[in-house]
Formats: sequence, structure tokens, C-alpha cells
Amino acid sequence: MELLDGKLVSKQIKEEIAVTVNKMKERGEKVPHLAAVIVGNDGASLTYVGSKVKACKLVGFESTLVQLPSTTSEVELLRTVKELNENDEIDGFIVQLPLPKQIDTQKVLMAIDPDKDVDGFHPTNFGKMALDMSTFIPATPFGILELLERYKVETNGKHTVVIGRSHIVGRPMSILMGRKGFPGNSTVTLTHSHTKNITQIISQADIVISALGVPNFLKAEMVKDDAVIIDVGISRVPDESAKRGYRIVGDVDFENVSKKASYITPVPGGVGPMTIAMLMKNTLLAREKHMLARK
Ligand code: GUN
Repeated sequence: MELLDGKLVSKQIKEEIAVTVNKMKERGEKVPHLAAVIVGNDGASLTYVGSKVKACKLVGFESTLVQLPSTTSEVELLRTVKELNENDEIDGFIVQLPLPKQIDTQKVLMAIDPDKDVDGFHPTNFGKMALDMSTFIPATPFGILELLERYKVETNGKHTVVIGRSHIVGRPMSILMGRKGFPGNSTVTLTHSHTKNITQIISQADIVISALGVPNFLKAEMVKDDAVIIDVGISRVPDESAKRGYRIVGDVDFENVSKKASYITPVPGGVGPMTIAMLMKNTLLAREKHMLARK
């Protein structure tokens, strides 16, 4: 078994980005600037956004955090999005999800300028991704592709089973794994809450990508020998022995599944840090696009 070490690889990617940013500075160019909008006080969302801002500092980007109260109306959030779209200082921005229930998420995502949509959630970018056109790829799937690529994990002709059809992970992942090229050329099954015989389907998978959010869902007896296991789950479970009172667990029973797997991502330290590194990569891309557009 080989560990797909997202902590290590994400560090390498951030170092590569920092080198590029230093060169930009030496040439007297403006450095990339990412803004993040968060609505409300959800603990997990605040942690994720905090990590994104911290990563910006690490690679030498500028960052702006826009914190709005949980009572923010859709109109108010749309106004913030419009301001960020029009602010020439900002190269890319994200609106952290989930949003409070008074806000229509799709309406907000549609309002983001596709050229600043570093999450790749706007229909224009999602459509381009599905059509193999160059665009922003959602950071979590992008991070998984990068891990598979850097560890040279064979995906060609393999059966990939994706668990969960969220717009952020499962759906884009299923599209990307079936694309032409590497990593891709996989035969993909997208499973979800209505899938019949899900255990039987998983048992046939060469590659399992689990984005369910159910702690310890994937057990050793469910996977085939030498399967590649990608764990996207990040659930908080109460743990009195932990400093924060909880610990983070994935969808996979790591201790037992790792004995059967050829490659596996740990939680924490697998997909999570890759997501942040790829958001930095998309922001750099946004800056480069922005610069070309102004020439
Ligand atoms: N919530 C969970 N993952 C993500 C993400 O990648 N981007 C945004 N904007 N919100 C999220």
C-alpha cells in the first residue's frame, strides 16, 4: 500500500506557486488576489475559509475575507458578488458553501463572473469542464486528479466508482475521470442514495472515490484487493480526548481498508490540503487570465 500524501504534495504545489509569485514580484507585476465570502458562523466553514486565507499568505497572494452575518439576505449577498465582480483588484473569489437557507445558492453562483469563478461552480465553467475546454476545475476534484497524476496511478480503462453526486465533488469527479487522457479514460459509475446494490458495484471498482460524509462507511470487505481508495469525507466526530472536543474522520475505515488497497488517501492529510492548494492554482490562473485580458 502506498499513501497518497496530500499534505506533502500540497506543500510542493504551494512551493511551486510561491516561486511563480516571487518571479511576478521581481518583474514588478501585481500578485494574485483572492477574496473569500463567508455568510454566517458555521464552525467547519470558518475553519476552511481560514485555511484558504492562510494559504494565500504562504504563497504570497493577497487575500480579502468578507464576513457577512447569517441573517444576510440574497439581495445583499448578490450586491457583494457584484462588487467583487467589478473590483479590478480582485482576480478571483469564492462564496463558501453551504449558504443559509434564505439564499438561493444557484442564483448566487450564477451571479459570479465566470472569469473570477476560481471554484469552477458557474455553469459556464462547469460546462467548459464537461466539454474538455480549458477552465477552472473545482478544487477538490482538481486536487484528486493532481494526486493521481503525481503518483502516476493508472486510470486508463479502470472502473472508477464515485460515491455521492454533489455539485462540488461527485458530479464533476465523475465527468473528469471519464475524460480523454490522463488522469481519465476511466469507465465511471456515479452512485448515490438511490443506487441499488451499491456494495456490489463498489466491490467491482478499481478506483473508489468516496464523497459521502458518512464516517467509516467504506469497510475492507466492500473493496477489491489492490483498489485505489480516495476518501473525500471530512466529518467531525465528538472526541473528548481531542483538544477541540472533536476529531476529523473520513468515509473510509482506514485501518482495515489500507491493508487491502494499492493506494489510499488518509484523513486528515489527503484530499483536504489538496483542495486548498488547487484553489491557489486556480487563483494564479485567474491572475494570468486577468493580465492577458488587460493587455
Ligand atoms: N464548501 C465545501 N467545499 C467547498 C468548496 O470547494 N468551495 C466552496 N465555495 N464552498 C465549499
